[in-house]
Amino acid sequence: MITMTGKLMSRGQRLGCVLALSVLALFLRGVPWARALDNGLAMTPTMGWLHWERFMCNIDCKEEPDSCVSEQLFMQMADLMVSDGWKDAGYQYICIDDCWMASTRDSNGNLQADPMRFPGGIRRLANYVHSKGLKLGIYADVGNKTCAGYPGSFGYYDIDAKTFADWGVDLLKFDGCYCDSLEHLADGYKQMSLALNRTSRSIVYSCEWPLYMWPFRKPNYTEIRQYCNHWRNFGDIFDSWQSVKSILDWSSSNQDTIVDVAGPGGWNDPDMLVIGNYGLSWDQQVTQMALWAIMAAPLLMSNDLRHISPQAKVLLQNKYVIAINQDPLGKQGYRLRKEDNFEVWERPLSSLAWAVAIRNLLEIGGPRSHTISVVFLGRSVACNPACLITQLLPVKKELGLFEWTSTLKTRINPTGTVLLQIKKPS
Ligand code: GLA
Repeated sequence: MITMTGKLMSRGQRLGCVLALSVLALFLRGVPWARALDNGLAMTPTMGWLHWERFMCNIDCKEEPDSCVSEQLFMQMADLMVSDGWKDAGYQYICIDDCWMASTRDSNGNLQADPMRFPGGIRRLANYVHSKGLKLGIYADVGNKTCAGYPGSFGYYDIDAKTFADWGVDLLKFDGCYCDSLEHLADGYKQMSLALNRTSRSIVYSCEWPLYMWPFRKPNYTEIRQYCNHWRNFGDIFDSWQSVKSILDWSSSNQDTIVDVAGPGGWNDPDMLVIGNYGLSWDQQVTQMALWAIMAAPLLMSNDLRHISPQAKVLLQNKYVIAINQDPLGKQGYRLRKEDNFEVWERPLSSLAWAVAIRNLLEIGGPRSHTISVVFLGRSVACNPACLITQLLPVKKELGLFEWTSTLKTRINPTGTVLLQIKKPS
């Protein structure tokens, strides 16, 4: 390498220079350029349970009392969150999605819960959830109707925010169906954010604003971050590998737009965890858990905590993976490379550590080996001059000390992922 003054650099000087540039690049990437919604909430991604993917709009409590959207469902989930270790693992919010409402507002124009399915109303449910040391989330819509056709909040933002605060709600998922213009969409999402703030109750604000904007124009994420604690970018998750894959593909294709804007107080939301349901193989469940940790995604499970396999439970409660998701530095990870049907993702963590996920994209054959020079990981600083690598998923394994010139070899099942943590040797 030739310097500005024309002198040749020694190997040591070159290394020092590369190192300094890498640190500078890391620093510049990390400059928080987008101010977050100033409500002090979601400093790490929200963790909890949300009914939609698993229970959808089942309102038939006569035929299906155990799986209809009713206060009983949320009370049972709250009980299990505490008794089965979910709360201790960090899952805190029990969230109601669409179809909780009666079909009309009450005579004063207030939203009301369906009286048959929520006989005690939302306030009593909130009290119950709070008595367990948990928090309650609810759902409403910025437009004229919710996606399932229940009353929308258009024209009622202040009234509805006040209702939710009075009931003791702690999170609002605000959907974007039945909104008649982009202006109303943006204005509604902003107005509800301000209305929630005016209640002076701490209410996490979960938006779908960018999802509904993308078909028309590229969302302004700097602005969205100023109003929302998390935001959905992409269509609804289904209980299938195809669906999880499409979310990961969308997230990596758009990473230049979405990664840097995420941080404490505001997160990209790739939708619910469907681990513990019917559609994903074990390796695919590992992939979802690992990549949701890399993406600093809200961890909102949608499954049936009354019937969940011990294996899925261990995965969802894995404290090392949760620690990566909840890392206080709050920087979202990104795809570093894709070649030979492998993807390498990485995420910077606090204390100069990194998380790395290696996916085997092939859906044919058996486990395949992947080899990477560790110097390519963590912007060339993670393993410089050496690092300690621990495999966290699919099983925990200490892989030992790696010099910066060494290579790392992993074996990964089809559609599976190996999640690693890279630390500086102490
Ligand atoms: C939309 C949302 C889903 C869910 C449904 C409810 O499709 O994206 O997450 O809330 O509405 O109707």
